[in-house]
Amino acid sequence: MTSSPETPLPGLFVAFEGGDGAGKSTQARLLADALRNAGHEVVLTREPGGTAIGEKLRALVLEHGHGEVDARTEALIFAASRAAHVEQSIRPALERGSLVITDRYIGSSIVYQGVGRGLGADAVRDLNVWATDGLWPDLTVLLDVDEAEGRARRTAGEAAEDRLESEPDEFHRDVRAAFRRLAEARPDAYLILDGRQEPGALAAAILAAVTRALEARSAVVHPAPHPAGVRK
Ligand code: TYD
Repeated sequence: MTSSPETPLPGLFVAFEGGDGAGKSTQARLLADALRNAGHEVVLTREPGGTAIGEKLRALVLEHGHGEVDARTEALIFAASRAAHVEQSIRPALERGSLVITDRYIGSSIVYQGVGRGLGADAVRDLNVWATDGLWPDLTVLLDVDEAEGRARRTAGEAAEDRLESEPDEFHRDVRAAFRRLAEARPDAYLILDGRQEPGALAAAILAAVTRALEARSAVVHPAPHPAGVRK
């Protein structure tokens, strides 16, 4: 949830997660377009990045050629980028009542650094709870594809693989399994979709889930008045 039940922020916070090549960026864009067409103010953003300092940190942590980047340093750079992202962009947008859609968030750190790099899921979650002052998405969409499909899609594009993408298939297999465990443990907060589905079908399922979340949010933020004559 974006905040404690007593003080919900007026906006709605949606994160996309999944392995490399799962199609998150396409679906995040399609969702943003659909919601803007429906008249919502939408902030579409990504991690690492989303702010000036975050984009610099993105280059540092993803590009090859900065020498050794050990696992704790890597986790701290992702968390630093996220802290700036929440403080400078995400929380102010949610306070204005915007819809925020981010391509990756805390789940990626729990899975890639906590599990993939072996730092421990709980330690990485705690670091990120501190970095974000406990801001969790209202809904996380997990696009699930296996490591072979993910690699085939990535290498079909023009771009060279970044530091994380170029990890071996076993790393990506662990990442996929960890994302699934994370999502399956919180069915109320995650929508798990098979990333091999046709993009239009995925977009429709995601929009339906976000629409339900928006209705639930507006019932909390603007509760219906008590019917006349009914006392608490
Ligand atoms: P992504 O932006 O999805 O890559 P691209 O733009 O090339 O599609 O993610 C960049 C990489 O960073 C990806 O391999 C996952 C990794 N990552 C982490 O390891 N931890 C994190 O917390 C985040 C946000 C990303």
